[in-house]
Amino acid sequence: MAVERAREIAASFDLRALPPDFYANPFPVYAALRESEPLKRMPDGSWFLTRYADLVAVYRDAQVFSSDKKVEFTPKYGAGSPLLEHHTTSLVFNDPPLHTRVRKLIMGALTRRAIAEMEPGLILLVESLLDAIEAKGGGDLVEDFASAIPVEIIGNLLAVPHEERGPLRAWSLAILGALEPRLTKEQEELGNRSVREFLDYLRVLVADRRRNPGDPEHDVLTRLIQGESTGEKLSETELLQNCVFILNAGHETTTNLIGNALVALEEWPQEKDRLLRTIGRQPDWDALEPAMTLAVDEFLRFESSNQLGNRRALRACEVGGVQLPAGALVTLCIGAANRDPAQFEHPDVLDLARENNRHLAFGFGIHQCAGLSLARLEGRVAIGRFLARFPHYRLTEAPTRGGRARFRGFLEAPFSIV
Ligand code: HEM
Repeated sequence: MAVERAREIAASFDLRALPPDFYANPFPVYAALRESEPLKRMPDGSWFLTRYADLVAVYRDAQVFSSDKKVEFTPKYGAGSPLLEHHTTSLVFNDPPLHTRVRKLIMGALTRRAIAEMEPGLILLVESLLDAIEAKGGGDLVEDFASAIPVEIIGNLLAVPHEERGPLRAWSLAILGALEPRLTKEQEELGNRSVREFLDYLRVLVADRRRNPGDPEHDVLTRLIQGESTGEKLSETELLQNCVFILNAGHETTTNLIGNALVALEEWPQEKDRLLRTIGRQPDWDALEPAMTLAVDEFLRFESSNQLGNRRALRACEVGGVQLPAGALVTLCIGAANRDPAQFEHPDVLDLARENNRHLAFGFGIHQCAGLSLARLEGRVAIGRFLARFPHYRLTEAPTRGGRARFRGFLEAPFSIV
């Protein structure tokens, strides 16, 4: 996108009315905003923040900047709607004490040991997907590979029976899709229907798990249920809605990490060669872990799968030299902060050996992604093993973007392995 065009979009920037050419490459627009108005007032009165330091300041101050979305979402989804109940009950859109209680229960099942124990199963899954791709000579990066991984990993986390995982991805896309700044009637209806269907499904799963508890060291659902009897009491609604959230949170974000990375490597052949040289002919995956971790973090910085976050100021305050009134709604642009030259040298260059990469792709502060170690593991195994098996893969058509501002990824990316 030409600089002039980026400045034009930035001058009248409105998240609810983004032009079609924004989605392919929003970064020049973010750069123009960072330079001209790093706290941009949008037509609806809210602020759009693009500087790294300003995002960190907001994330850090959870006393002033609330994650509770009742004020914003009640008019958006309508009182009594399934989407409203869901998006105002999950831990990510709440403040302490509900946030603290739920987070503690989830984190207890995401220990280093628990995640390390997931690795062998993840490797088997990835290798079996690669076998299927090899047999076909290619396929679609998103459909046949990237999206097939998180659905299994997150399904395992809540011990959802394999044969019941089919609808999870579509529910998740519809429910998180409803967070887009502008919603069509169809998207809203689909989102509401998906919450209803998801809850109907989970009621049966939870009733069964109450009768047949799993291992709380590994099964997040059993932990959430047992939490109820150890003083961390969650209501039935809190329990079900937080299960919906966990099943959604690790889904599209991780799919897009893997898909974005494999598409980006096509556009950065030197970085692809560098990674291939690092991986070598007979990879010693344990020895490669630090290099793969650097690469995954750079993919996360460069094309952050979750581009936007939101907070509401509970009191009048100052951010980056701008006075914000009590009640101010702020959108934190992770995609822009992760390309801020004040924080990252050559921010628009994909550098898979970048050190000291303190990107904000997982957020920061008390709500920082609870699944970040799991996401990094999935990224390392999926991207590394794909490259080792198919070093000469090529996209056969231009990939199709999701066309969304919040979740950055591709819907389709057809490829062949030679
Ligand atoms: C590349 C993959 C992922 C990305 C980019 C990502 C990104 C994020 C971000 C930015 C937040 C913070 C939201 C905020 O502060 O408003 C978050 C929260 C969260 N994520 Fe992730 N996520 C990913 C994968 C996962 C996975 C695999 C899980 C599975 C357990 C997960 C579970 C959560 C949970 C439970 C929260 C809420 C934490 C809280 O509110 O305390 N995420 N994620």
